[in-house]
Formats: sequence, structure tokens, C-alpha cells
Amino acid sequence: MNRENWFATPIWFERTSFDFETVAKKCLELRDSNYPNRKISNVDGWQSQDIKLNEYPELQIVHDIITQKIEEVAKDIAPNMGLLLDNVWININEKGSYNTEHVHPITAFSGTIYISVDENSGQIIFNNGQYSPIKHYPFDSLNSPLFWDYVHYNPVNGLILMFPAWLPHKVMPNESDITRISISFNVKQSFYFVQRNSAQPIPLVDTTETKEDSKKRKSKKRE
Ligand SMILES: [Fe+2]
Repeated sequence: MNRENWFATPIWFERTSFDFETVAKKCLELRDSNYPNRKISNVDGWQSQDIKLNEYPELQIVHDIITQKIEEVAKDIAPNMGLLLDNVWININEKGSYNTEHVHPITAFSGTIYISVDENSGQIIFNNGQYSPIKHYPFDSLNSPLFWDYVHYNPVNGLILMFPAWLPHKVMPNESDITRISISFNVKQSFYFVQRNSAQPIPLVDTTETKEDSKKRKSKKRE
């Protein structure tokens, strides 16, 4: 049988490098100078109100990395995707603090970049946002990534992640003695109200395709 994997959930990641210490110091300085904060999914952690990173010379590098990666993701999805950085905030989690499971409403993509973490700082865990594989395929579902319920990423300084904003995620408690610092952001499309052209056909699966043809088509796409 041919198999097509539709409705995939992309998560982009890359390890970047910059002066983590300078950025971390500035983040802590902002918290300690009573920069406005808020409580959303953070339990015992500190989360800043939205902040413009490029207004602070020490944080400019993170702004530049985030905007560059957004551009790369936009290109990866479609030539005219048009994605823009929307809002940005700082997360500071002392030992024991964590973030409950949540999604980011009214935005297209979200992301986070790690500034000060080690392997015990608390993983980010993504939950399958479309259905519950474990309920439908309880036997051996773990043996196939097609049916995983959860995936997690270990925090590493400089790692940047981007994911669909509707994808539920949580952050495990910080068990490290290091203060966990990350900077998160939302990404919007550069246009909001695009009418679907009613003449545009819904993508059609070619059921006459042989398995060989299907393999050829997929390998061509990758070239
Ligand atoms: Fe989040």
C-alpha cells in the first residue's frame, strides 16, 4: 500500500551561539529592577510583560537570531508565507518552578530560545495536539513516531525551538541549581485576512499512483 503522512506537526530547532552570560545578566537585571511581569502558565516562575529586545544592546543579538530564524522557517514552509515577530517575553524559573500545559492563542507560531540552562533545568514537552494516539493505538504505539503522544527536548544554552502555536506544551520543574532563563516569542503572519480562492482546488490524492511512482515523486521533492 502507498502511505502518505498528512497533517504533520513541524517543530524546528537549531543550536545557536552567543554570549549567554551577558544576556542572562541583563534578563536578571530587568527582573530585579521590577520590570513589569505577569502570570499565565508559569507556576512560581517569573515572566516579563512583552519586551522589545532591540531596545537593549545586550539583548539585540537574541532579537537578531529570532528574526533570522523566523525568516528561515517562513521560507521552509512556503515562498510567500510572510511571518513576522509579534511579541516577546522573558521567562525566569528558579529551582522548583515550571509551566503548566498551554497553547498560544491568536498567533501562528511560537518559539523559545534558551539563555541559561543545564540538563536538569526542565524539559519542554509537546503533547500531540490533534488527537490522543495512546487512546486509539495503545499497543506498541511507542514503537512508531507516527503515533507518539509526547516528544520532549532537553534544554541547552542557545537552542532555539519554533512550533505551531496550537501545539500544547509544558515545561517540567527546574531541578537544577542554575536559574533557568529562556526568551519566548510569538510569530504572526504578515497578513491576516486572505480569502481562499474558491476556484482553487482542494489538494487531490492520486489514487492511481503505483507504489513505485509514489517513491519516485517523493525522492524528486527532496532533490
Ligand atoms: Fe508556551
